[in-house]
Amino acid sequence: MELGVPDIIKWFELANEKIQHHKDYLTALDRPIGDGDHGINMARGYQEAVNKIMAKSYTEPSEVLKDASMALLAKVGGASGPLYGTAFLKMSVAVKGHEVLSLATLAKGVEAGLTGLKQRGKSDVGEKTLVDVWNPVVEYITGEEFRSDGLIEIIREALESSKDTMATKGRAAYFKEKSIGHIDPGSASSFYIFEALAEVMKEKE
Ligand SMILES: Nc1ncnc2c1ncn2[C@@H]1O[C@H](COP(=O)(O)OP(=O)(O)OP(=O)(O)O)[C@@H](O)[C@H]1O
Ligand SMILES: [Mg+2]
Repeated sequence: MELGVPDIIKWFELANEKIQHHKDYLTALDRPIGDGDHGINMARGYQEAVNKIMAKSYTEPSEVLKDASMALLAKVGGASGPLYGTAFLKMSVAVKGHEVLSLATLAKGVEAGLTGLKQRGKSDVGEKTLVDVWNPVVEYITGEEFRSDGLIEIIREALESSKDTMATKGRAAYFKEKSIGHIDPGSASSFYIFEALAEVMKEKE
């Protein structure tokens, strides 16, 4: 399995389609435990990222990831803009110099993204944030056997279990115990992002 520039662009296009399609759902998730803007933020940022990367030509995936990260940083806003911006920027740096990404290189990239996310958000696993989706993705993708269907199962489980945790970071943390029973909006947007990646990878299996 190797992902080149067109595959990484496809990843952002597919993720954008999903985010646009589920924009109202993401916003609805952010209403009971936030300020009801997550879908709006993500739809605006992902559309900008796609517009930007579609209009340019690239020699390696790292450059696509860098441009996308800058667009997300500039346009998503809220808490998640700097978080996603940082994650994709760290991913870009980690995969620099590779014209195509092997599974191992991609895994390094996603791992660097997770590290950036945790640093930027001063957050860790179990705080009801998108870290709870990125972390199992890193564990799975760096593991022994990879199947794109397996990746989808992992993120679906992670998303569902975000319901059971209490938020200790971000706006949702103000709701304390009342945050339990609600899906984390950031985990849901990360679900669509990795579902899109799994679909791009499936075509290569
Ligand atoms: N410190 C953090 N670390 C990691 N993820 C976080 C953190 N704070 C928030 N998040 C994630 O961001 C999501 C909320 O993103 P959103 O775009 O709605 O920003 P916001 O909270 O409305 O930002 P703001 O309050 O600054 O406007 C949460 O669902 C959570 O997954
Ligand atoms: Mg919000």
